[in-house]
Amino acid sequence: METWRWHELVVRFSTELSGHLETILVDRPGRRPVFFGEPSGVNDLHHAEPAVMGGPLVAGAPGGAPEEQTMSNSIPIPLTVEAEALSFGERSSSLLSLFDSLPPGESFVFTSRDSPEWLLATLRSERRGQFDWTPLDAGHRQFRVEIARRGADRGSLRRVSDALSSDHDRLARLEVSAFVARAAGDAETARNWYEAFSFGLRRHIAMEEQLLFPLFEKRAGLLPGAGPTEVMRGEHREIERLLVEILRTIGDPAKLPDQARAEFHDILEEHHQKEEGMLYPALDEVLTSDEGDTLVSKIQEFPG
Ligand SMILES: [Fe+2]
Ligand SMILES: [Fe+2]
Repeated sequence: METWRWHELVVRFSTELSGHLETILVDRPGRRPVFFGEPSGVNDLHHAEPAVMGGPLVAGAPGGAPEEQTMSNSIPIPLTVEAEALSFGERSSSLLSLFDSLPPGESFVFTSRDSPEWLLATLRSERRGQFDWTPLDAGHRQFRVEIARRGADRGSLRRVSDALSSDHDRLARLEVSAFVARAAGDAETARNWYEAFSFGLRRHIAMEEQLLFPLFEKRAGLLPGAGPTEVMRGEHREIERLLVEILRTIGDPAKLPDQARAEFHDILEEHHQKEEGMLYPALDEVLTSDEGDTLVSKIQEFPG
């Protein structure tokens, strides 16, 4: 069983990102990456218009320079597709074509003024087991969802440990992106990445407490308010407290969130080790394959 290795991810993504951010910030001063929390229309680097309105749908930077396409492979800046740019009658086939063009591990962001439930239903029906679906905001003004392609056979059933460990990895990339930007002197970018991380981690925590823990307690015969899940809830509160503290300071070049970050990593690493090493595998063990797959569907639907 693979366990959580935050430090390895930090080193890997810091190394990859630092070079690319330097390219963005130094060589292309007028351009900046899009952030998962930003409103639409700011993604000048990877806007989807040329792909969805005309030629073949491809992931990366349609119409962009090779340099931009290289950046999209290493930094988590997925292509953004706006629902309003797609013709209504062809939107499902266009998005399935885009999805099929992605290599495993790559993703795109879909934005829409209306609920994208229809797209989730389409993917479940046509690409079952092959995608991850992650809401990126609460859908108050606009719905934003990241759709990632998995390296799995069509129709395969999902397991809790796989789905949630993937979300841990996704969140780690966002957190590292924030601190790489801060180290490069771009406090605004750092704050935007960290807001995206904060939203994602809060959603992840809420989903665990509302869906996973109660089910685990029920199956394990634990009383609510006692046992390992109660310890995990307590760690969540501490994680959230540090999240607020870091978010308050990361965008201020005069402040140093390093101590809070170190404390945050200590707690989160151990927390994720327990989840990936014990809690998630235990759920996989006590649930049938169909029950696990249904639970992953609920996780995907879970709002921000
Ligand atoms: Fe957790
Ligand atoms: Fe978790």
